[in-house]
Amino acid sequence: MKLSVMCPVLQFSELGDERGHLVVVEGGTSIPFDIKRVFYIYGSDRTVVRGQHANRKTEFVLVNVAGKSKVRITDGTEELIVNLDKPNMGVYLPKMIWKDMYDFSEDSVLLCFASEHYDGSEYIRDYDEYLQSVKK
Ligand code: TYD
Repeated sequence: MKLSVMCPVLQFSELGDERGHLVVVEGGTSIPFDIKRVFYIYGSDRTVVRGQHANRKTEFVLVNVAGKSKVRITDGTEELIVNLDKPNMGVYLPKMIWKDMYDFSEDSVLLCFASEHYDGSEYIRDYDEYLQSVKK
C-alpha cells in the first residue's frame, strides 16, 4: 500500500466563531484509535532531528498546534515528507513506520496522540534493525 494511504493527512474541523478557533480531536472518530497518551514536543529548533524510531505497537497522530515542523516517514521502501504547519491538520502514523521530525520553527509545539501507554521496549531505535523487521 502507498505510504500516503497508510499515513493519511487528517484535516480537523474548525469550530471557530468570532471569539477564535476551536479544534476537537476525539479518539476513535476524528483519529482512528482510542487515545491512551498525549505528549508534546517544544523547544526544538532547525538543527534538531527527533523521533528516529519506529514502534512495534503504538499508532500516533502528530499535530503542530503552534508553529511548524516536518515529519519524514518511511516504511523501509517508500519515503514521504509531511509539512505540519496548521493547527487543524495532522498525520496518522500506524505502527512500524519509521519517523524523523525536524525543521522545527522556534515556536513549534508538536502535539502527539498515541494509542498506547509508554513502553520503551516497543521502540525500535536502530534503522538497520527496523529494516530487518519490516522485510521479514
Ligand atoms: P524520545 O522518544 O527520544 O523523544 P522523541 O521521539 O520526541 O525524539 O523520548 C525522550 C525521552 O522521554 C526518553 O527518555 C523517553 C521518554 N519518554 C517517556 O518517558 N514517555 C513518553 O511517552 C515519551 C514519548 C518519551
